[in-house]
Amino acid sequence: MSITTLLSGRTAKAPAAATTDVALDLRNVQKTYDTPGRPQVEAIRHLDFGIRRGELVCVVGPSGAGKTTLLRSIAGLLELTSGEVVLDGEVVVGPPEGMAVVFQEYGRSLFPWMTVRQNIELPLKEKGIAKAERRAKVDRALEEVGLTEASEQHPWQLSGGMQQRVAIARAIAFQPSVLLMDEPFAAVDAQTRAELEDLVRKLWKDLGVTVLFVTHDIDEAVYLGERVIVLSNRPTVLMEDVRVNLPADRDQLTTRSDPHFGELRGHVYELIQRAKRGDRPDAPAAPPAAASSPEEA
Ligand SMILES: Nc1ncnc2c1ncn2[C@@H]1O[C@H](COP(=O)(O)OP(=O)(O)OP(=O)(O)O)[C@@H](O)[C@H]1O
Ligand SMILES: [Mg+2]
Repeated sequence: MSITTLLSGRTAKAPAAATTDVALDLRNVQKTYDTPGRPQVEAIRHLDFGIRRGELVCVVGPSGAGKTTLLRSIAGLLELTSGEVVLDGEVVVGPPEGMAVVFQEYGRSLFPWMTVRQNIELPLKEKGIAKAERRAKVDRALEEVGLTEASEQHPWQLSGGMQQRVAIARAIAFQPSVLLMDEPFAAVDAQTRAELEDLVRKLWKDLGVTVLFVTHDIDEAVYLGERVIVLSNRPTVLMEDVRVNLPADRDQLTTRSDPHFGELRGHVYELIQRAKRGDRPDAPAAPPAAASSPEEA
């Protein structure tokens, strides 16, 4: 998928009026992969939730649950089997303008023959933004991610964490209203990861952008999110929508040692363990234990 595709902007008016504070609304979303000659794969059975404008929501779930499928569905990169994704009151029918995606594989998403500046500038160029405005937007994005000094370097001259900063700068340069991130920090070391987490919180606050962040990491989800959406195993349904009522100012040391952080992490961990065991809210209730017969008594 090219940057151009991501920015082509395809939405249609949603029939129902959306409330103005809902940025993203998933309505009865269902996705089954149906590849000719291959068995069908039911990835998402049913998801129905909304994300408020300016919210930072994390999604966790067992491996293979359907997290990437969900993200790609929201990004308009996959055709849904049924249901709809509504962005700012318009049904998503293709990659919408105003939505940016950061994937895990930053190495593959940056062009090695282009400088950092050129990489960030590319989608703005494709959008037809004039040169002076492009320059200003790239400068601001570089400053936001702390890469002003590296603007004329090439991606292969940078560390993994810096490359991921470039990918983030490229995503925020055109000031999207929604930022989707799929395990963006899975490939970097723990210290870099902590720095990038704090960068996401900072950008979220500075830019007022709505963020949906997919991660495997339970601690990361609780540290970053205002909410954590926990998914069941495949075919996925919602296990629980967990509100993270931690102070808005998060800090790697104090937040992570807050007893309430520990409780939330424990709760999400327990949900994931249950999900892995196949426990799911839409499973038929277990039959009541048989009453013992008089002979057994
Ligand atoms: N293009 C595809 N065609 C067929 N099946 C697919 C396709 N993409 C994903 N799947 C299947 O859909 C299911 C969900 O995959 P998905 O990648 O969304 O899960 P995930 O939660 O992101 O996994 P992970 O935690 O490993 O990143 C898996 O069983 C996967 O094999
Ligand atoms: Mg995935």
